[in-house]
Amino acid sequence: LARGDLPADLAGRHILITAGGTREPIDPVRFIGNRSSGRQGYALAATALARGARVTLVSANVFLSAPAGAEVVSVGSAREMREAVLARRGTADAVVMAAAVADFRPAETAAGKIKKTGDGPAPVELAENPDILLELATERTRPDQVVVGFAAETDDVLANGRAKLKRKGCDLLVVNQVGEGRAFGTEDNQAVVLGADGSATEIPNGPKEDLADRVWDLVARQTAFGGT
Ligand code: CTP
Ligand code: CA
Repeated sequence: LARGDLPADLAGRHILITAGGTREPIDPVRFIGNRSSGRQGYALAATALARGARVTLVSANVFLSAPAGAEVVSVGSAREMREAVLARRGTADAVVMAAAVADFRPAETAAGKIKKTGDGPAPVELAENPDILLELATERTRPDQVVVGFAAETDDVLANGRAKLKRKGCDLLVVNQVGEGRAFGTEDNQAVVLGADGSATEIPNGPKEDLADRVWDLVARQTAFGGT
């Protein structure tokens, strides 16, 4: 199906998407980060726009050009992402957490650049970051909002995914099978989408845009979204 042939089935909808990977500052020049490219989140934004949605893209450290028409909000850390998401979720018909959010951050950020002292390095103490998806799903402000998470799992993909879906309280969890050069930093993406209703939908390996379109199909079908 060519892009132009897609139905405008998301017209009139506001979709909030997070993309990229958060960076947690150690000092003014250093951070703890991850290898997320932001490609899946940007593909979700591009496909939602193509299907007529208004899209807000909360973007963390992504070096791609944003799809035309998306409202882009740039953030750095997990706590900045949380603020940006919570401030904008009120109008969203769906929120998709495609970003790789750092689980931990340095407990303190040094005000100045950390210098070598000759006594060896001081340990970096870590603190746990807020779980944005958990908060979106368990402290809902509107019952008709579809909340979608992403997870990358290596082994026991389905069991881990089911447990994670339940723990997070989200409506859909897109579980990527990683390892063997898949997902992170690659063009293609293979996944199974688990639903809170017990459903499991396999998405074959293919471009991230194809996965994104299948995710929107499933979002549109959610009863909270007005689907059947
Ligand atoms: N997520 C989030 N806030 C966090 C961590 C994760 O919103 N602090 C979101 C991610 O954006 C993703 C989903 O939760 O949509 C699952 O992320 P994942 O790292 O797989 O889950 P965790 O709960 O962090 O579990 P794990 O210990 O396996 O990393
Ligand atoms: Ca995590």
